[in-house]
Amino acid sequence: MKRFLSIAVLIALLAMVLPASMVVAAPAAQGEDYTVQADDWLSKLADKFYGDSNAYWAIMAATNKANAEDASYAKIENPDAIEVGAKLSIPPNDEAVAFMADFDPTAGDVSVLFASGAKGQLLVGNWWTSGGEFAGVNEVYKIYRAENPDVELIHAGIAGGAGVNFQGANLTKLIAGDPYDTFQLHAGLEAELYTPETYLRPVDDILAEAGVLDVMPEDLKALLKIRGNTYTVPLNIHRGNVMWTNTRVLEKAGVAVPATFDEFFAACETLQAQGVVPLGMGTTDGFELGHTFEVALAGTTGFETNQGLWNGSVSWTDPVVAQALENFGKMLDCTNEDRGSTGWVGGIDLVINDQAAFNIMGDWAYGEIIAKGALDYVTWNSPPGNQNLFFLVSDGFAIPKDAPNPENAREFVRIMTRKDAQENFNMNKGSICARTDCDYGVFPEDRRAYFQSAADDFASSRIVPMVAHGSGAIPAWQQQFYQIVNQFSSDRDVAAAQAAFVLAAEDAGFPQ
Ligand code: GAL
Repeated sequence: MKRFLSIAVLIALLAMVLPASMVVAAPAAQGEDYTVQADDWLSKLADKFYGDSNAYWAIMAATNKANAEDASYAKIENPDAIEVGAKLSIPPNDEAVAFMADFDPTAGDVSVLFASGAKGQLLVGNWWTSGGEFAGVNEVYKIYRAENPDVELIHAGIAGGAGVNFQGANLTKLIAGDPYDTFQLHAGLEAELYTPETYLRPVDDILAEAGVLDVMPEDLKALLKIRGNTYTVPLNIHRGNVMWTNTRVLEKAGVAVPATFDEFFAACETLQAQGVVPLGMGTTDGFELGHTFEVALAGTTGFETNQGLWNGSVSWTDPVVAQALENFGKMLDCTNEDRGSTGWVGGIDLVINDQAAFNIMGDWAYGEIIAKGALDYVTWNSPPGNQNLFFLVSDGFAIPKDAPNPENAREFVRIMTRKDAQENFNMNKGSICARTDCDYGVFPEDRRAYFQSAADDFASSRIVPMVAHGSGAIPAWQQQFYQIVNQFSSDRDVAAAQAAFVLAAEDAGFPQ
């Protein structure tokens, strides 16, 4: 009693010295249920109950656990989207504090936010967080969830185009023995980042059982083999080199679609004279400058020389590399000045929003064009000099040796090999199937033409692996390449960039 009194006195004293708002924000000592009101959002509630707006994760986890026992509680998949009237479980303060002490949302540590199904969880690590990207992968999730209602599938997305943030987080989890059940990676040399013999399970048996090898393009099969084994189940084939074009902007400016560098620079001048941004770009994800330079490089050198630069048969001292850097520099002069304040999605958005004439990006940008309703006026062309070149970018999924739910992961990648799953995924994602028998004629009418053109071009073009998207060079070389291109984009020192390319190629094992 005495103790209770002293606590009551203490509270009364605090009430006198603390501002009123802090007293109202009394921590939830007991835990309670709460019904979402208009103008509530989770971090605001976390602040109200715990004085810590970050602790909304604890509310999400507790509510999802409660939902597994009692469906009157909400199921929260996205903490940014809670509905008015939803019933939440607010855990006691000490539980919330303990939860937050162990939880790092940036490390892909999200399985603790969800309950487990009768057959466990399926934690899917990936970087598909933009509108078009999520729309694509969600189609695979829908199939998986319908066929596996006893598994709790968790989309563990880490934002950052081309996997720039995901890859490091994923590697850390793998090495720590705490991997995702399955994770996204590019077909090709990117698998080396994960020391596949040590950390990954070969998937050759899954591909064979699914009967998919007969319909998988040969170029892709070759790219997937690492010292005789395959570690990646592919889902798609993206074309990395597309020049997205706003026809309304071009028409208004009286500019024709350029095919060569000279035509591109002439169009750039005309557009700039009218105050129009010629080439919309965003660079904050970190891969975009390297990506655009790769496209300019191959467009300048042509197929054979470009291939030679990456396989060591052509030296980076070649004058054509200097010419490519000059072309790239001039292209940068055609971009929006604030390109350093947005990412690849912001770059294509400039074209979608009539603020720029062109954007050079892979056809994942088509996913944004679809999701944002711009199919009527945004079309596709080859970037300068890229006619007959198809930059091959393929996404797939791997299964770690230590996957906590390996059976669930096997089923997930097995579904991914299927024609129906690939068609549903790709018609939203902007890529073609990783199988040759998909029927683009059944895709929604307004987008059939693009997919058919990509499939035709894939069959008839020279196939170029892409360094910025894991297929063209080992990860260490890719990183050096990015650094050199980023440096060049600010100092425009052609000789220094070329010298640095030489050193990077030598580091990668190709004496110049
Ligand atoms: C690529 C990936 C695409 C798309 C893009 C932007 O590397 O293959 O699926 O997601 O990055 O994030």
